[in-house]
Parts: sequence; structure tokens; C-alpha cells
Amino acid sequence: MTASAHPARRTNSRGRQLDPQGLIDHYPQPLELSRLRDLCGASVVGHRDLPRRTVIELCRLGACMETSDVASHHPLDGKLVITAFFEASTRTRLSFESAVARLDGKLLSVPDGKVTGVAKGESLQDIGEMFNSYGDLVVMRHPQTESVEQLQTGLDLPLVNAGNGSGEHPTQALVDWFALLKWRPSLAEEAPAPDQRIHLGVVGTPGSMRAVKSFVFMALSFAPAISHLTVVSELADPFGADLHDAIERTSIPVTVTNDIGEVLPRLDVIYMNSIALLGDSYKQLDSRYRLTTESALHPDAVIMHPLARRDELDVSLDDSRHNLYFAQAAGAVYVRQALLVCMLDRVDRLPFFA
Ligand code: CP
Repeated sequence: MTASAHPARRTNSRGRQLDPQGLIDHYPQPLELSRLRDLCGASVVGHRDLPRRTVIELCRLGACMETSDVASHHPLDGKLVITAFFEASTRTRLSFESAVARLDGKLLSVPDGKVTGVAKGESLQDIGEMFNSYGDLVVMRHPQTESVEQLQTGLDLPLVNAGNGSGEHPTQALVDWFALLKWRPSLAEEAPAPDQRIHLGVVGTPGSMRAVKSFVFMALSFAPAISHLTVVSELADPFGADLHDAIERTSIPVTVTNDIGEVLPRLDVIYMNSIALLGDSYKQLDSRYRLTTESALHPDAVIMHPLARRDELDVSLDDSRHNLYFAQAAGAVYVRQALLVCMLDRVDRLPFFA
């Protein structure tokens, strides 16, 4: 697999830069076309829809998208994507829309559910029924966990769950692992060398933080790459039922602590989030769990955050080498392009498979 330099590639302006070429070069074998084709017409609503091998192939394809002139092949020409956001978003909606627009697809954008029939009491089932006639794929965010199931009762199109209450946010986890695999490509090996494995720290409550939940589920599928998982939370059991069962089955040693200062110097990767969803309300991360340039971080540690942040992640870190979060957000367009091209059956239009 080769890819030429793409002069139009957009990078993050501050923090660590991630070079997709490292991921491409680390795995020179051809992309697994059959695995990518399996996504054709499928929906991505939770972590089960993105198993480890699929994540790796999508990240490799995303790296090719990032380093190549894919736009001139117009891979999404004639496809129409509906982005239906019933809850606020900066990155997810706009990176999906950027992904579609840069590949010459078309968009119908609902930036606020109040402009739909929901304001008059319309059901998500009926909205799903309408979407069937209007587009080819739906990306939905909604504050209610049960919204995905309700929409799918009427929807026949492929659906991407872009965050459903305290449920899941599976493509955020894909974006997160795209950043991690560009940062350290060996994490995708079947058996990474001991010095390549990471002590992963998660600051937050996976049970009620959907991005953290999807990230941890995906992390469990990369078990050989993780030497230890430490969750920093004020709760004794921060996982919730589904994740609790998966944690029980994993071979990764897992620790829960409320003492971030004690564990911080040993963490290679710190994944933070700021907000837990509790029904219609929000709970902010405990104020003890604040990172700044004064924090006792390992010199090589990287910090990830799905953003938006509050004061738990101080802006003083933005210009530091610990900042992986801007590169994480910047890569979202490419790996979401990879996903959309597969789901919409346009893999054959990509130059990598000619
Ligand atoms: N990461 C993420 O979900 O960000 P937005 O809320 O801005 O979409």
C-alpha cells in the first residue's frame, strides 16, 4: 500500500502533529477489502459494530485518505447524507459534513432538532420513515439513549450514532484510535513489544460518559496493546452494567482510583472527558481532576480528550507535547471519510484499489 503526499492536508496548529505515513509504512500489506466491504449498507450504532480488525482497516484507509488526493476521484458524488443533530455539537457534525463535502457528496443538515417536527411532537419513528425518501445515510445525535432504537423503527437507511444520551459514541472511539494508531502504529500489532504497550489512564465515568464508554470498549478489544488500565473516578464502580461485564472478561489489569496525583506519573496515555450525561442534565467532572503544565505528567505522556473541554484541561497544555487532543480532532475528517465511503459502497472509486 502506498500513498502520495497530499498538499491540501489540514493539520492541527498546536500540540503534537501526527504523521499518517507512519501508520501506512508500518503495515505495508494491502488493505483488507473484504472487511471494508462488510460495512456497505451497515449501521454503526455501538462498539460492537466496530470490531478491532475493522477499526484497524478503517484507520489504515483513513491514513491513505489523509495523505492522498482522494477528492479528485469524487468518491461520494451522487450520495446524500443527512446529519440530524438534536443536541449541540461542534466537532462531530462539522467533521462529518466536511468529510462528505470534501468527497463531493451532498448534505441535508439538521443542526438543531427544534427546527424539525419534534417541536410539534413528531416521533423519531416517523422522522426515520421520512428520511428513507430524502437521503442515503443518516448521522444522528440525540440527548436520549433510546433515540437510536426509536429512529431505527422507521428508518431503513444506514445509521451512524453520533452520540445518544449516556449510550455510545462509536465513531468518536474510531477517531480516538485513529489518533492512537498514528501516534504509535505498533499498538495494532497482535503482540506489541513490552516497551510499546501503554498504561492507559481514563479520567471520568465511562458508565455515564458516552465517548469514554465507547473508547474503553474499543480499548478492551486492543488488549495486547494495553499493559494496565487505570480509571480515575470519584465513583467506586464507574463502569455501568455493560462495561462492567466486559471488564470482568478482559485480560487487562484494571484499577479504579480517586487519586489522580498518585497514578499520573505512570500513565502513558490519559483520556479525559468533562461531562457526564444524567438524563436531560449534565454533571461536570470532579474539580480535583484538573490537568495543567504543572501536573506530574510523565514526560512522554499524551493527553486525549474528545472535547468540548471545560477547566479540567488547562489551555496551558495546548502548546505542549502532551497535547494529542487537537491532532485527535483534526484526524476526524479522514477516518470518517473512510467510514462513509465504505458504508455508502464507494470503496471502488478510491485510487488505492485500482
Ligand atoms: N467529540 C465530540 O463529540 O464533540 P462534539 O460534541 O463537538 O461533537
